[in-house]
Amino acid sequence: MNQEVLIVCESMYHGNTKKLATAMGIKLNCRVLTCDEASKENIEKYKIIGLGSGIYFTSHHPKLIEFAKKIKSTQKVFIFSTHGRPYLGKYHDTLKLFLSTQGVSVIGEFSCRGYDCTGPYIIMGGGNKGKPNEKDANKAANFVSRVLPQYSKNTNVTHNGNNIELHYESCVGCGRCQAICPMKVFEMQDKKPIIKNELNCIHCSLCKDNCPSQAISIQHTWKEAITIAKRHVNRTSL
Ligand SMILES: Cc1cc2nc3c(=O)[nH]c(=O)nc-3n(C[C@H](O)[C@H](O)[C@H](O)COP(=O)(O)O)c2cc1C
Repeated sequence: MNQEVLIVCESMYHGNTKKLATAMGIKLNCRVLTCDEASKENIEKYKIIGLGSGIYFTSHHPKLIEFAKKIKSTQKVFIFSTHGRPYLGKYHDTLKLFLSTQGVSVIGEFSCRGYDCTGPYIIMGGGNKGKPNEKDANKAANFVSRVLPQYSKNTNVTHNGNNIELHYESCVGCGRCQAICPMKVFEMQDKKPIIKNELNCIHCSLCKDNCPSQAISIQHTWKEAITIAKRHVNRTSL
């Protein structure tokens, strides 16, 4: 576990920003804590701190801004968020202002749309449905690789899947993915799952949703969806 980087995330609305924080945490192999949890820590020991939350009334969560005041000028920060409206605008400015008055440098920023049922979205039953999605989580992971290449280990992923990735550093070897998959995509070998029959995969996400350590990611693309439909046209039962 990386002892030099910490991610602090407040994600009170739909857990949207937590999805990005988790993807970044996996990439950096570091801990992801809420503000309350992080406040109990000696945060001075961290060289880099990631600060993220949803955007609520045009800025980050007040708890996160309060937490940021504890960060010292010797530490570096990256900022992230999810927001509901089409444009990010100046939503990171409040947090950045506090950091700059403390002399803390911001090494990078990332934001994407998140599921939102406020304001005008109420009429349409919610906006940005499904966001952040797998693609956004991957972009978030790529963002931290870009700004912190020294900490981004090539995650221990098995690449025998084109669309499924198993993150072995998070996998606890419980075998739930193998047990729950109706299409027998996984096989357990040496107490770790391997992707055995990816061509069977119908992207139902049961494995991912039931994984206790978020060690599985699945890339959903239109191209793959059409291929699945074609592959399964002749199937009549499990
Ligand atoms: C009280 C409240 C205020 C919000 N204000 C804004 C806003 O000013 N601009 C915006 O783009 N989204 C706004 N949103 C939408 C959230 O930023 C968006 O849903 C975000 O993904 C929530 O992240 P979370 O699930 O991590 O809390 C607001 C949501 C709530 C609940």
